[in-house]
This record gives sequence, C-alpha cells and structure tokens, in this order.
Amino acid sequence: MVRGILKKCAVALLAVFCLCGQSLAAEKYIVASDCTWPPFEMLNDQKQPTGFAIDYIRAVAKAAGFEVENRNIAWDGIFGGVATGQYDIVASSTTITEERQKQFDFSDPYFEIVQAVILPAGKSIKSLEDLKGKKIGGQVATTGIFVMRKSGISCELKEYDDVGLAIQDLVGGRIDAVICDNAVAKYYAHKKKDYLDKITIAYETEDKELYGFTVKKGRTDLVNKLNEGIRKVKESGVEAKLLKKWIGD
Ligand code: ARG
Repeated sequence: MVRGILKKCAVALLAVFCLCGQSLAAEKYIVASDCTWPPFEMLNDQKQPTGFAIDYIRAVAKAAGFEVENRNIAWDGIFGGVATGQYDIVASSTTITEERQKQFDFSDPYFEIVQAVILPAGKSIKSLEDLKGKKIGGQVATTGIFVMRKSGISCELKEYDDVGLAIQDLVGGRIDAVICDNAVAKYYAHKKKDYLDKITIAYETEDKELYGFTVKKGRTDLVNKLNEGIRKVKESGVEAKLLKKWIGD
C-alpha cells in the first residue's frame, strides 16, 4: 500500500519535472542567410555560415533567451522560405524597404549602408549618370540593382546569384561596373588580397539603407524578442566588439 503511494508520487514528480523541463527549454529558431555577402554572411573553410550577421544574430539570441540554428540559403527565393515557414528569420543584410514591409515584418535596424559603385582600378565617375550605356553587374533582386533601375539611366544590368561572380567579371573585363552595399564593396576592394590593385570604389550614393532581420508577417512575438536582443547587444557593448571584429574601418 505505502509502496504503491510512493510509486505514484514518484511518477507524478517525474511528470512535473518533464513538463517543467519542456517549458524551460529555450525556443529554437531557424535562421536563413545567403552566405555570399562578406563580411556579413559568408562560409568558412568548413562551409559553415560565418560573419558579422551570424555572430550578431547569435548574440541577439543569447541576450533575448532563445536559440538559433543557422542555414545557408540562396538569396533568390530566401524570402519565399520565410513566408512558407521553412525558417523563422532571414539574417541576410536585408535592407528594410517599403515594398518588402508590405509582405514581411522587420526587426529594428542593426546596420546602415549606402550603395557603392566598384570600377576597375584607375577608372572614375562623378555620378551615376556616367554609367550610361555601360554594363553593370550586381546581385539579383538587391537594392543596388533597384537603385540603378529607378535612376532611369539607360544601361545594361547583369544580375548575378553571387556578387563575387560580378566582381570576377569586372576584373576580367566582361562588365564595366558593379553596384552593391558599400560595406561589401569595401571588403572586396580593401580586404581581398587578389583584388587590392585591381578594383576601386569610385562612387557612393547618398541615400542611406538600414538592415533588419526579416520574419513572416504577423510574427510580432518574434519581432519583439529580436528587438529586445538588439537593444541589449547595443547596450552591452557586444555590438561594438562585433563591428571591430568584422567591419573595422
Ligand atoms: N542590402 C541588399 C538588399 O537588401 C543586399 C542584400 C544581399 N544579401 C545577401 N546576403 N546576399 O537588397
């Protein structure tokens, strides 16, 4: 009889532990990044996602008490996957634009850029107009391409899956210019040994763009958690450390 009661108590206790354990386990979110955008999201030697955005989202998760799993997902289609719930967060240097805000929700901004035009070393332009009639490369469906389209300047736009391939074509003389986020342009022009004396940042636009983490429309809870994490990462000085580690000057 006593043994029976004890056994029941033990079972009940076990159940309580299991349930508590479950509710204590941190929520895990899958994060998609197109790892072709150094120094923000790229692949390391072991083909794992690395870079400023990868460290940043991990720091945000730690600060806000959730877990993340990082995945490398091609830019073309990356937003479709967050809409259908294949992953929870896009951390891919996504500029917050009005157009995108109609379809997705964004965290608070975590980085600011402008567009930069890369030319072969020694060449120069004074304005975007000087690109008239030229062949210009950029990553497909990025704000760099949108800026050129909106400018109305008649030129030939070549859209690549990977901006690195556009820069290869520039160096190879197959296109005349590349347009991309200035921090990425700086990485290719100043940090890639192979390109040091081959390419130059010839022009930067004035319009500022802000990067935000992208989630499916309506996931307010997740946006709130991201914003809480971003705030803490800024306040704690972790952001400054990550900027120093990945971006420098
Ligand atoms: N900031 C630009 C945009 O939002 C380019 C982002 C590209 N990101 C990448 N990981 N390939 O359109």
